[in-house]
Amino acid sequence: MVFDNFILKSRVYFNNQSMQLLKKVTGSRAFIVSDSIMEKLGYLQKAREYLSEAGISSTIFTGVHPDPDVKVIADGLKLYQECKADVLVALGGGSVIDTAKGILYFVEKLGKVEDSDIKKPFFIAIPSTSGTGSEVTDFSVITNEDNKKVCIVDESMAPDIAILDSTCIQHVPQRVVADTGIDVLVHAIEAYVSTKATDFSDALAEKALKLIFNNLEIIYQDIKNQAARDRVQNASCMAGIAFTNANLGINHSLAHALGGAFGIAHGRANALLLKAVMEFNADLAGNVTGRAAERYAKLAAVLQLPVRTRREGVVNFIMAVDKLIKRLGVEDNIRKLGIDQSEFENALNNMAETALLDRCTPTNPRQPSKEELIQIYHKCY
Ligand SMILES: NC(=O)c1ccc[n+]([C@@H]2O[C@H](COP(=O)([O-])OP(=O)(O)OC[C@H]3O[C@@H](n4cnc5c(N)ncnc54)[C@H](O)[C@@H]3O)[C@@H](O)[C@H]2O)c1
Ligand SMILES: [Zn+2]
Repeated sequence: MVFDNFILKSRVYFNNQSMQLLKKVTGSRAFIVSDSIMEKLGYLQKAREYLSEAGISSTIFTGVHPDPDVKVIADGLKLYQECKADVLVALGGGSVIDTAKGILYFVEKLGKVEDSDIKKPFFIAIPSTSGTGSEVTDFSVITNEDNKKVCIVDESMAPDIAILDSTCIQHVPQRVVADTGIDVLVHAIEAYVSTKATDFSDALAEKALKLIFNNLEIIYQDIKNQAARDRVQNASCMAGIAFTNANLGINHSLAHALGGAFGIAHGRANALLLKAVMEFNADLAGNVTGRAAERYAKLAAVLQLPVRTRREGVVNFIMAVDKLIKRLGVEDNIRKLGIDQSEFENALNNMAETALLDRCTPTNPRQPSKEELIQIYHKCY
């Protein structure tokens, strides 16, 4: 028998300068997973200095690249095993945090081997994008040998501590602000319409949605606005807690397959698919019935849009989301990214099959067929 539940694992520290919490960490040796941008911007050095004030020495791994693959996990794991850390710090975007989680996943397995001197470290995640919510989720998205993005889901990978210090976000390029912010929006919407949504996940998804609508455009125009940056970062974390409990839906399944096949950034892939996915989920061409339609109308009410009928609420919600995405500079369709039509057509079957098997598909409010997923891709091209 499975009882309804809601997991709250990570302690979340937030607001400006909270990274200084590293000065208070207990341990002797840290393994810091990061990337060359964090190094260049000086955040890595700062983290190292703070840990040093706590009497902790650091080994640094900066080999992470966007959309990490199994090779980067293997490289990180090798270095980790050599340094015998008791603290693991991930400092960077979702790609960095997911890499640290991938390393941790295998550390856990190695630690269970008899006579192993590998111990599970205390895990701290410091996001440098406001997007994935990976700092509080038990998800890690890794690209496999076939260039397919695979979700590993394991409770042991959820960080012990998440530090939301929005000073780390102040140099994010405008396009990445849009991509990562839209990822938050999709997390909130998909968690809300998921078949596993609860009152607990709904509360966080609704709040994340409002924070994104009120603040994302502000930081897209002016990343120096600290108050808005704080709000978007909180939204990212809240949406992460919502979806690590409620799971996601086919927008993510389709985005994982599309991003893996054509190297499109995760948030951008989600953005390009969202309108068509919501229209499918709500059966907009039909009677606008079912769970998704009912819930999109509720989200329209959350945003104080007119909802005199369910159809009106659904249409207004989809339009509001689409307009926001366009104002954030997202292309009208996949073709505009320069992806060749015949290459796209050739990849369709494979992408739809991959999306159907994705961990996010079972909780989508409307179960699609492979043909319906292909139609959605077509509509977005
Ligand atoms: N684990 C989860 O729960 C989860 C959820 C959604 C997505 N993901 C995965 O996370 C990855 C995407 O993560 P992301 O959207 O955070 O992007 P990212 O980590 O790939 O970063 C995007 C780019 O921005 C740069 N960058 C990051 N922080 C910066 C900063 N502060 N200043 C300047 N540049 C900065 C990075 O170096 C990179 O080039 C994908 O692989 C996606 O599939 C994971
Ligand atoms: Zn996402």
